[in-house]
Amino acid sequence: MNLLSIADLTRDQIIQLLDRADAFKDERGKPSDILAGKNLAMIFEKPSTRTRVSLEVAASDLGCHPLYLSAGELQLGRGETVADTARVLSRFVQGITARVYSHSTVVQLAANSRVPVINALSDWEHPLQILADLQTMRQNLGRLEGLKIAWIGDGNNVCNSLILASALMGMSMTVASPAGYEPKPSILGESKALGGDVTVVTDPAIAAKGADVVETDTWISMGDEKDEAERLRIFSKYQVNKGIMGLAGKEAIALHCLPAHRGQEITDDVMDGPQSAIFDEAENRLHTSKAVLERLMR
Ligand code: CP
Ligand code: NVA
Repeated sequence: MNLLSIADLTRDQIIQLLDRADAFKDERGKPSDILAGKNLAMIFEKPSTRTRVSLEVAASDLGCHPLYLSAGELQLGRGETVADTARVLSRFVQGITARVYSHSTVVQLAANSRVPVINALSDWEHPLQILADLQTMRQNLGRLEGLKIAWIGDGNNVCNSLILASALMGMSMTVASPAGYEPKPSILGESKALGGDVTVVTDPAIAAKGADVVETDTWISMGDEKDEAERLRIFSKYQVNKGIMGLAGKEAIALHCLPAHRGQEITDDVMDGPQSAIFDEAENRLHTSKAVLERLMR
């Protein structure tokens, strides 16, 4: 089994992973040999703090040896094909994670690998992040089904995975994005086919009204840097601040996958305020990664 999209998992599989992640959180620090003798290749085409460290620590806590592989230092960087890289690596290791620019790279890796491939962020999805987000929502709000999610900002990779997860878990979602930066019709179509309830608007206030969860992400994802000046201008009103949180439900939580650009998509008072579950969300990357590695590599 691969995890390229959050929709590679069923609702029941997600609940099982979240239950395991909660158990890993409870027994934090307890050594385990669940994956003893196994090796995990971790390919990174882009920088990472949370994904790299949570996967490395998760693997090593489970007895598995993680190998950090910067794509530029592999022969991949000199033109060896993605397919040949997958064929070779999968004869050495029992799992591969990859953070890539183009989603087609993780698809090619998976198509040519003998071992499970996990998407550690592509331009299209970020399934590991969304498992941590779901764990955080469930821990803070006591349930997933029926929650109202507001996404404020770019209709990007993280937003795509959240749209699919909301459909799988019975949550409704309103996305507020500037015209031209909304989620693509194909992801909205996929969500609809899964029974999703997604509304796309341009006004952040409409999305935030009565929401249980207010989530955002950078206006400038990795790979979008060339459009920085234009994006800063276009997204300037798509900020999660006190005013936006004031429109959400009383018990609402704020989420952000991080890294944050404080003062751009989110203000300090929300990041560091009482409704922020953002650092729990970051911690939950570790517990959910353990659940995923156990499920795919055991
Ligand atoms: N949220 C997340 O994936 O963070 P990193 O880019 O630091 O891995
Ligand atoms: N959307 C962001 C997420 C970073 C974790 C990016 O792709 O850069």
